[in-house]
Amino acid sequence: MVMAMAMGSEKVLLLDVASNINRVPSNYIRPITDRPNLDKVGSIDASIPLVDLHDVTGSNDVSQQIGRACEDYGFFQVKNHGIPVEVIHKMMQVSREFFSMPQSERLKSYSDDPSKTTRLSTSFNVKTEKVSNWRDFLRLHCYPLEDYLHEWPSSPTSFRDDVAEFCKPVREVALRLLEAISKSLGLERDYINRAIGQHGQHVALNYYPRCPQPELTYGLPGHADPNVITILLQDDVPGLQVLNNGKWLAVNPIPHTFIVNIGDQIQVLSNDRYKSVLHRAVVNSYMERISIPTFYCPSPEALIAPASELIDEDHPCLYTSFTYGEYYQKFWNRGLAKETCLDLFRTSHYI
Ligand code: OGA
Ligand code: NI
Repeated sequence: MVMAMAMGSEKVLLLDVASNINRVPSNYIRPITDRPNLDKVGSIDASIPLVDLHDVTGSNDVSQQIGRACEDYGFFQVKNHGIPVEVIHKMMQVSREFFSMPQSERLKSYSDDPSKTTRLSTSFNVKTEKVSNWRDFLRLHCYPLEDYLHEWPSSPTSFRDDVAEFCKPVREVALRLLEAISKSLGLERDYINRAIGQHGQHVALNYYPRCPQPELTYGLPGHADPNVITILLQDDVPGLQVLNNGKWLAVNPIPHTFIVNIGDQIQVLSNDRYKSVLHRAVVNSYMERISIPTFYCPSPEALIAPASELIDEDHPCLYTSFTYGEYYQKFWNRGLAKETCLDLFRTSHYI
């Protein structure tokens, strides 16, 4: 309690700072060479593939569509995913309620230690980064649910139920996508499922407050996700941008669809056939934004390496094997300053 009050007086969370300022504090300002250049961003509403998951289990066609999207964009959107609209609404609603609670209530979950399995924090990694990001986030481990549910915030009162009800069907979608991706790579349908050990699932509630000078800072700067796949729900406020052919493109929200991107682990398993693409979140001056990514992960002990089926004379093995725990720790410690961690595990000196 004493600790929470001390932290409260320092305003560790951005949303408590952002509510009454009309300039971005200096620690959020990016150098001129590293700013969003918002007027140079295009829109790819029409061209990020939208995949209908209705028939994903049986259909070759869906896995081919997914494979093509992974090759061409590293990103796609999904509809008819089977996650009920009420479940999506409740998840969004309870996230909004969480961030509207008084500071003292929110701070009960605060931690700046990335190894904690349930924590509220701000920016990306406040311990290692030089420039802060315009974001607060609550990050929860959510698989196996029974291992973590008791750690989650108990207010708002429906929080645990609403978030658990969301995480379960999102996991089902993740498993179906992993099968489709395995198949699209010409691997056994359960290849990725088996390659990632006992599986892990994290969900983040990202809260991007309104920003008085959005051209000076990022919600999240360009980064690749370190996990296997990410399944993102966003509210109706734009902010996500994807790097495509060297240009940042906005991915504007379509109600009830999820945005899927492949993460670094699929890039490794596929021996670079599928790329884990850089993306970022920008902020704006008129509206706060909430996004809810689910990060589907290997378990920390899982040993990750390119699939031997994808290696031959023309396609030499591009990565040394590593445990996901090792990779994940590097990701957090390195920060988002350097864009991808994959290079740390490349065997490029053999080529
Ligand atoms: C992330 C991420 C994008 C967004 O949390 O890794 O890329 O739109 N978020 O919030
Ligand atoms: Ni991301």
